[in-house]
Amino acid sequence: MKIIGKIKEQQNYSLNMKYQKMKIGLVPTMGFLHKGHLSLIDKAKELSDKIIVSIFVNPTQFGAGEDYRKYPRDENRDLKLLREKEVDAVFIPKTKEIYPEGFKTSCHVSELSKKYCGSSRPGHFEGVTTVVLKLFNITQPDIAVFGEKDYQQYIIIKKMSEDLNLPIKIIPSPIIREKDGLAMSSRNTYLNREQRKEAAIVYESLLTAKDLVKKGKHETGFLKKKMTGLIESKKYTRIDYIEFINPETLKKVKKIEKPTRILMAVWVGKTRLIDNIEVRP
Ligand code: PAJ
Repeated sequence: MKIIGKIKEQQNYSLNMKYQKMKIGLVPTMGFLHKGHLSLIDKAKELSDKIIVSIFVNPTQFGAGEDYRKYPRDENRDLKLLREKEVDAVFIPKTKEIYPEGFKTSCHVSELSKKYCGSSRPGHFEGVTTVVLKLFNITQPDIAVFGEKDYQQYIIIKKMSEDLNLPIKIIPSPIIREKDGLAMSSRNTYLNREQRKEAAIVYESLLTAKDLVKKGKHETGFLKKKMTGLIESKKYTRIDYIEFINPETLKKVKKIEKPTRILMAVWVGKTRLIDNIEVRP
């Protein structure tokens, strides 16, 4: 497994692979890898010949007062997991390599980036799209895999790729969960024992809504009330948002008449968790 820290070296590696007619699959991550990340690698393997994983905790997607400094990091463990997965190359640059002094440019997908997580975290998605566009230019992938865990992020990156005519296929991959249903996340390590137990209510509330939809309850106002009741029954939880949206345009829907995504963000203590599910009438 090649470990690459410099942009030029990564570009040369990728151009060389392309010259050999290899299809490149990219899995961008911020490290502290778990089974969710590893499932994206499996997906990328099905669709490409050479797998590149990037590890970069991107400072520009964290707001002031957010957890950039304390975001969990364990480079040696990550590299061990990636070696076991037989990844071909890991791009793991220093911050200064990605953002040298005088860096000025950004990429912004308007409208979609303002809603939901973008409204709670101003500037977050601009940080994401800018770094992902840079990672695309550095690693030159044919396909890139993103988790549905960050559903809004996936849609925004897909839109950026379409709008900018990037020759890259954006592939979604399903959410991997813990035994009790909590979506895997590097941030779950912030939860104490009691909070970790309560966190299962997030997915439980999504399943409850899905079940009610199946039983013919299609009014999103009613469904949201039910979910809110469940979340608020716990001690450490506080709802950031629960929204019912069109899965492509991300526009809100009032009544479930077509496949719909329920997106949610919930604070459990000082940790903000996100999750989502598809429901069909
Ligand atoms: P990170 O949070 O490390 O996630 C990297 C990728 O793993 C994302 O595509 C995310 O959706 C996916 N992922 C995380 N948890 C998952 C789970 N439980 N099941 C399935 N997929 C999961 O997302 C980012 O990093 C950054 O914003 C990044 C795209 C790397 C840009 O900095």
